[in-house]
Amino acid sequence: MDYYRRSIEIILQNQHPGGAYVASPHYPNYQFCWLRDGSFIAHAMDRVGEHQSAEAFFRWVDRTITRYAYKVDELEKQMKSGPLAATKSILHTRYTLEGEEESSDSAWGNFQIDGYGTWLWALAEHVKQTGNDRLLSELADSVNVTVRYLEAAWRLPNYDCWEEHPGYLHPYSLAAVYGGLMAVEQLGATGKFAACRLPAGSYAAEVKDFITRMAIYRGKIVKHVWPAAAGRTARPVIQSGVDSSLLGLAVPYQVFSRNDPVILATVAAIEKALHRSGGGVYRYKGDVYYGGGEWLLLTAWLGWYYAQNSEEAGASELLAWIEGCADEAGNFPEQVSEHPLAPKEFQPWVNRWGPVATPLLWSHAMYLILHESLKESGRKK
Ligand code: BGC
Repeated sequence: MDYYRRSIEIILQNQHPGGAYVASPHYPNYQFCWLRDGSFIAHAMDRVGEHQSAEAFFRWVDRTITRYAYKVDELEKQMKSGPLAATKSILHTRYTLEGEEESSDSAWGNFQIDGYGTWLWALAEHVKQTGNDRLLSELADSVNVTVRYLEAAWRLPNYDCWEEHPGYLHPYSLAAVYGGLMAVEQLGATGKFAACRLPAGSYAAEVKDFITRMAIYRGKIVKHVWPAAAGRTARPVIQSGVDSSLLGLAVPYQVFSRNDPVILATVAAIEKALHRSGGGVYRYKGDVYYGGGEWLLLTAWLGWYYAQNSEEAGASELLAWIEGCADEAGNFPEQVSEHPLAPKEFQPWVNRWGPVATPLLWSHAMYLILHESLKESGRKK
């Protein structure tokens, strides 16, 4: 099977006419479009030359943010009068495919800042690749709203990218904020984004300074950080350990360079604790979601990091492992459960929500990104 073509096909088939990408078409709780998943999917579409699909997604985000931009005005006002008690004015992490907030599901937290950084990063990559400066001017207002939102919200505790631990700040999420703000700053510096009058670069520098001071323990990045509170400064949550999403601090958000000692030590910890030898990559040690299986998108993410470091053998091995996880129709699941971290926790999730989400568009997207990164790294030689 040509998994490359099949992945593109699955993504295009599951893009709503308005531009949104459904997280997973058949899984009951994933009938929404997440900014996090969607931005990586759009980036994958850009990498494979499907720029129209990516552009349609960015326009969908633009319309959605414009619809809810009034909340950012409210949030800024609330922030002036002290820390936020209720987070009513936050922008949601996922929307219906029509770009409306979903109100039915209150069990999952909707306050997650990372996707807003990721969309800025992905949009900037789109503009760099396509030279579509016109799109950037058309989307200028929602880009500016996002920059304001990130500056207002990044210090507030929010759910992590796995939709857990709302009491903390998360270096992955902060990295996405940093990456998005820096992307806007760099577009400004090239003269491509004159419409941004906000000091995105100095906001980004503050975020990086915070990560550097508060998120590193014994030379490695930790998974969570305690937010500052009355009489207490922020500090790393030492026991939170390592999480594979921390790869994002290097690739793609470049908070630190790929060879910075703190990245090398963090990646080594991920490899040791979370990469099953010859297999895939787990999210984190205590994962119980569907028994805590190996996630395809994280396996591709580690491969992406390897490909950028010219470690092609390692990257190709991970690519092949992902291909081995496809079903007979070429669909990639969110995770595979043959070697779960918490086997007893698998069946209760199946009873609750049905089988693991398949296809997961984000899995297909990360596979495509890895595929393209490997090609690029081969071309550089
Ligand atoms: C994951 C999120 C993801 C969502 C939709 C959740 O289970 O934790 O990271 O955005 O699924 O794919």
